[in-house]
Amino acid sequence: MCGIVAYIGPKEAYPILVKGLKRLEYRGYDSAGIALIQNNEIRLVKQKGKVSDLELLASETSVVGSIGIGHTRWATHGEPNQVNAHPHLNSDESIAVIHNGIIENYAALKEELQKRGYIFKSDTDTEVLVHLIDEILKIEKCSLKDAVRLALNEVSGAYAIAVISLKEPNTMIGARKGSPLILGIGENEFFIASDATPVVEYTKKVIYLKDEEMVELNRDGSFEILTIHNEAISPKIQELELKLEMIEKGGYEHFMLKEIFEQPKSIFDSIRGRIDSNEGTIKLGGLEEYKTRILNAKRIIIVSCGTSWHAGLLAEYLFEDLARVNVEVEYASEFRYRNPVIDSDDIVIAISQSGETADTLAAIEMAKQKGCLILGVCNVVGSSIPRASHAGCYTHAGPEIGVASTKAFTAQVSVLTLMALWIAERKGTMTPSEIKQILIELENIPSKIEKTLENSVDQIKDIAKKFYESRNFLYLGRGYNFPAALEGALKLKEISYIHAEGYPAAEMKHGPIALIDEEMPVVVLANNDSIHEKIINNIQEVVARKGQVIAITTANDVEINKLAKHIIEVPETVECLSPILASVPLQLLSYYIALMRGCNVDQPRNLAKSVTVE
Ligand code: G6P
Repeated sequence: MCGIVAYIGPKEAYPILVKGLKRLEYRGYDSAGIALIQNNEIRLVKQKGKVSDLELLASETSVVGSIGIGHTRWATHGEPNQVNAHPHLNSDESIAVIHNGIIENYAALKEELQKRGYIFKSDTDTEVLVHLIDEILKIEKCSLKDAVRLALNEVSGAYAIAVISLKEPNTMIGARKGSPLILGIGENEFFIASDATPVVEYTKKVIYLKDEEMVELNRDGSFEILTIHNEAISPKIQELELKLEMIEKGGYEHFMLKEIFEQPKSIFDSIRGRIDSNEGTIKLGGLEEYKTRILNAKRIIIVSCGTSWHAGLLAEYLFEDLARVNVEVEYASEFRYRNPVIDSDDIVIAISQSGETADTLAAIEMAKQKGCLILGVCNVVGSSIPRASHAGCYTHAGPEIGVASTKAFTAQVSVLTLMALWIAERKGTMTPSEIKQILIELENIPSKIEKTLENSVDQIKDIAKKFYESRNFLYLGRGYNFPAALEGALKLKEISYIHAEGYPAAEMKHGPIALIDEEMPVVVLANNDSIHEKIINNIQEVVARKGQVIAITTANDVEINKLAKHIIEVPETVECLSPILASVPLQLLSYYIALMRGCNVDQPRNLAKSVTVE
């Protein structure tokens, strides 16, 4: 939800800011803007639309200066137009602010400021910040740092901000609470950004600011970190592991396609060093410290959103089937407001690619207060959810930039499988040979995905060509493949804007069957598993109503070959891992359909990758 980037140093800021904003566009792309200090003035350029639209506008004017801030927006308060785009300035245009998050008490603050004569130009919550800082500067006659600090003490809600002022043209202030902020430290230059992607090519030295921390950056290369309560903080500088090539397209037309093709590696990286398939053992260092508590838990509650929720639903099948633990899967947004019955013995697993999803973060804070042990399954190292968790297991999928999640999902499922097996091994709910068989199969998943990618692309393109103008799609699956059907439908609607519904195949007869006619494509996940016969019956039900079946099957499935018009084959594996393999062709199908419909695959309308607002 909104990306922010800022620079102070000897270089020209504009190219650094624009490049950074492009990398952060996955966080929002409703509007973009930059502000630089240029010849004792704040030079402001902002535009509705993408960063490329901002560039066009900027090319008509002069944007020079070596201190500047930039923002790409996902609208919350106020429609996505030029006026509401960040940065926001105070009335005499001497202060500029960019903000990611929501100032929850903005309405009350705005009313007060208006009473005191402040005139607001935009409908945003952010604009209160810049006027508040302006007022404090005038009344207190203090430094910019103190004015920002005092202003932040008056706001509630979430923020990551960067502030510049003409009164201190060699200083920049950053601060965060609830929204991420990273500080990059170069040679006499500094960067502020929502994540490491705008920083990585300039420096590997970073500091992850914590909630209620702020930083003053000076052009002479000095900086100071403190809390908004004015306590000094000694900085902990970390080395970035991110590499530039990880966040570039590497020859692919879209990040999404690159990320689909990266899955053999992202799964391999996520299980590497955690398995001994000869011995049939699993090593998850992150869980060891809490072993007794985890093994004695009567219940696991999984909280997550979006695609991560689908991984959570799959984990319910995994944990119950393999580790014999009771599992409840919750939409974080519902869980946190529902007054759920939570026991201090419960274990809460928070699944999140970004590690920043506001609802998931709030859900775990609530469970923590009730005494639960919180385990995070996240992809972004050092993000808020792992930091708020007691322990957990990272997925090592690498940066995921396409807004629709692909490789993060399959990495989550792989890691959750390991967690279920880790418990099963220690609780003795499976025999060593059963565990060993799944581990061997898990190690084979990367090569099986490679095979699927090699064999199925042309065929999937043909199917996409036939159905890309459809108005609806139905996705059906049973057992382990029901969550994968939901995820397949979500992928299609996210990037192609076709209405798609995922359903348990046997539930179809209680409603969706009424939708089926010769126009309706029905994607059926029909792997060769313990309920294969049942899914064949469901396919029969679709065929009898002239639905167009697209079946995901294992090789040479004679019966399904007879029934389904369109077949995509995936390699055979054990039942609990089959949804990983089935997900890959579904990702490709939605990718090619979206492409044929001319949609923006990597940045679908209205969505954002990192949802830091509730
Ligand atoms: C957004 C993204 C989805 C993602 C969801 C949860 O909606 O567009 O791709 O699944 O947030 O995000 P998380 O980072 O918590 O997995």
